[in-house]
Amino acid sequence: MNNEKLNEVKEKLERDLQNIENEAVLNELKVKYLGKKGLITELNSEIKNIPNEQKKLFGMAVNELKDLFNKSYEEKLSFFKEEELNKRIQTETIDITLPSKKVKRGSLHPMTLITEEFEDLFVSMGYTVYEGVEIESDENCFQKLNVPKGHPARDAQDSFYLKDEYENFLLRTQTSTAQVHAMEENADKGPLRIVCPGKVYRKDEDATHSHQFMQIEGLVIDKDVSMADLKGTLELFCKKILGEKTKVRFRPSYFPFTEPSVEVDVSCFKCQGKGCNLCKQTGWIEVLGAGMVHPNVLEMCGYDPKKYQGFAFGTGLDRFAMFKYGIPDIRTIYGNDIRFIEQFNRKDDTYEAK
Ligand code: PHE
Repeated sequence: MNNEKLNEVKEKLERDLQNIENEAVLNELKVKYLGKKGLITELNSEIKNIPNEQKKLFGMAVNELKDLFNKSYEEKLSFFKEEELNKRIQTETIDITLPSKKVKRGSLHPMTLITEEFEDLFVSMGYTVYEGVEIESDENCFQKLNVPKGHPARDAQDSFYLKDEYENFLLRTQTSTAQVHAMEENADKGPLRIVCPGKVYRKDEDATHSHQFMQIEGLVIDKDVSMADLKGTLELFCKKILGEKTKVRFRPSYFPFTEPSVEVDVSCFKCQGKGCNLCKQTGWIEVLGAGMVHPNVLEMCGYDPKKYQGFAFGTGLDRFAMFKYGIPDIRTIYGNDIRFIEQFNRKDDTYEAK
């Protein structure tokens, strides 16, 4: 009786396994054979009623059926999955010849462009880009740059101080403050070669002065550094940024943290030195302050001025951007008008959004 039933189920199963059309049918079969009231499940519960001497054989036969089902189930399932995947691959192909969706790209701000140009140039000369801080202590902004309290050189720069318990702090007025940080942080007090670009703040406001503008500071510290190195570096840099024909002129000047100090002019790139409204008929445009780092500054920042010398220079990045891109009013740089920034798009980068 039981063997009959066993053979019946086996035959049914073999027949059913021949005719599975899809995954749904396969899953129906799983219920039919292995579900709670499934045919194989039923056989399984028969085992306990089988006389002992036949139990083993019967049990083995039921297990064989179960294995047969499971093996076929796995095979069919992976077959259907693969079939489905292939179908999807065929129907979901992408036509790469279709025109793409237009993307609206932004453009880099002219100050980003000019900053990157300066950084690239100095990095190629072995400098590292140093990030300074914008909120500075009186000590770092002035005192350690050789401008003690009450020094007249403060007048031009006494600008935006913080309030209450932070009144000893101000928005930095020059990137020269980065010199102090870089020297103090340099634990081995050895050679240094950095440029620090960043925002600075002063209480100025007209077509060529903004209360916020950008400078880049350069600092080189080493043994046997001389004014000749400074001159060579600045000449090279002015030519690279403003064009090889640029002439460079050094005039004696005064900065509290450098001695000797110079002001650097470049020949006017608009009139090539003949005289025009840009250079106010002088043929020259002032672009940089520079000098040899004052021994007091070296000493206050932990360097031995008998062993080390250095040179420093600082210039307004906005000024260079204005010259280079022909921007007549510095306030447009900070005006946040998208039409202004879009002019710095490269033509081939301009896409219309749909
Ligand atoms: N910090 C000076 C300024 O803002 C420029 C400068 C930098 C001068 C480094 C000498 C050395 O005008």
